[in-house]
Amino acid sequence: MRASVIGLGKLGLPLAACLAAKGLQVVGVDADVQRVESINKGRAPFFEPRLDETIRSGAGRLHAAASIAEAVAASEITFIVVATPSEPRGDFSLRFVLPVCEEIGRAIGAKDGYHVVVLTSTVMPGTTGGPVLRALERSSGKRVGRDFGLCYGPEFIALGSVVRDFLNPDFVLIGESDERAGGQLEAIYHRVCETSPAVARMNFVNAELTKLSVNTYVTTKISFANMLARICERLPGCDVDVVTRALGLDTRIGGKYLKGAVSYGGPCFPRDNLALLALAKDLGAPAEIAQVTHRFNRAQIPWLADLVCSQSSPGGTIGVLGLTYKPNTDVVEESVGLLLAKELASREMDVLAYDPEGALNGAKALGETVRLAASAEGCVAASEAVVLATPWAEFVAIPAARWARAGRPRAVVDCWRALPHLADASGVLYIGLGLGQEISAVSEQSTAGTATT
Ligand SMILES: NC(=O)c1ccc[n+]([C@@H]2O[C@H](COP(=O)([O-])OP(=O)(O)OC[C@H]3O[C@@H](n4cnc5c(N)ncnc54)[C@H](O)[C@@H]3O)[C@@H](O)[C@H]2O)c1
Repeated sequence: MRASVIGLGKLGLPLAACLAAKGLQVVGVDADVQRVESINKGRAPFFEPRLDETIRSGAGRLHAAASIAEAVAASEITFIVVATPSEPRGDFSLRFVLPVCEEIGRAIGAKDGYHVVVLTSTVMPGTTGGPVLRALERSSGKRVGRDFGLCYGPEFIALGSVVRDFLNPDFVLIGESDERAGGQLEAIYHRVCETSPAVARMNFVNAELTKLSVNTYVTTKISFANMLARICERLPGCDVDVVTRALGLDTRIGGKYLKGAVSYGGPCFPRDNLALLALAKDLGAPAEIAQVTHRFNRAQIPWLADLVCSQSSPGGTIGVLGLTYKPNTDVVEESVGLLLAKELASREMDVLAYDPEGALNGAKALGETVRLAASAEGCVAASEAVVLATPWAEFVAIPAARWARAGRPRAVVDCWRALPHLADASGVLYIGLGLGQEISAVSEQSTAGTATT
């Protein structure tokens, strides 16, 4: 089977590379010419673990091009993986998807034989069987289910582990126009996946709602764990990890995504939650759970900023370690580090940030408001208080002595409890979120003489 992939971004390129690595002939198309050139030279145009080696192992079978017509003509199945940006009210825009459908449709119209189109981009329920199907039929002059097949085939990957997640999914979700189209997509997954995942096949709208629901359920679970963390902080002797570890043993709950910290971020969780909310509003259905999850998540940032400011003198330097929404990615969208840096800067604090991979994207998003440090240790050394916002391994590896500060101890706010070795370190006031400990503000510390931890 020969495949084409339209949109070689953070999801599309790993998908194309995995298909080629598993033996399919793949033509990838992207509107960005530099991206196409980089891929044809065997180099990933962005950072993603295992992507370079996956591209190399599919070398000779993965070819990037700029023409959708050429790609459709040279394949039997076409994946659409272009961006679907969020609109202000929370639903997803089709401004990239529909022009691509028109071009694919024209190419299908000019081609003999059966072709399957798979929409992988995240869309609102009703999209695949509505505007996408109509655009394909109109521009091809052919009928779905008879002349060509259509599937909704979303991915549940996480950035930083896209290749692993694509090859080892918990389950495969397929929305299908008909048995033949869904069967062809399922056959590809069986060929490519390294495990034997359960496959859930259904109509388009059920699949579209399932995709949104998975992420929205996870955001609710994360927020529940974060709520427990805030409660634990006020209960002396409490440790949120002890509570959630035990809680996760209940098979009705499970331990994944149950770590109390601060807000969730990234390119999918926040927006998928808001999209479900927008859908429910349109339908007149109640969706308070998604609404509260979103509000609670956003409220974590000013709360964290209050805590950090209480550990610094007015206008003092605050170090933010980590601007990416999690380790092993350069994506900074909606990350704790980025939102916190913005919030602190708006409060006239001097913010010094560092990230091993996200500095460039962080600088673009933050502009002049925040200074960037050249190294993690430099960021710590220059700061009165430091926040570990993203638990990159290199931050955890900084020796305890480098966190210490002469005179008043340096406050280290550890959002992830990744630095337990600092709890007893001299010269450090260690504040692990989710731990029941009494913390005095700087103003109280100077009158009381010492800080209580
Ligand atoms: N990134 C993720 O973690 C993730 C996870 C699950 C689902 N998704 C969904 O996958 C979709 C793609 O996300 P992404 O993160 O890969 O986006 P992205 O912005 O990284 O990539 C989109 C790519 O499409 C290309 N493109 C746009 N218009 C084009 C056209 N007319 N022809 C050819 N190429 C075109 C862009 O140049 C870009 O390279 C979105 O709907 C997103 O919600 C993403």
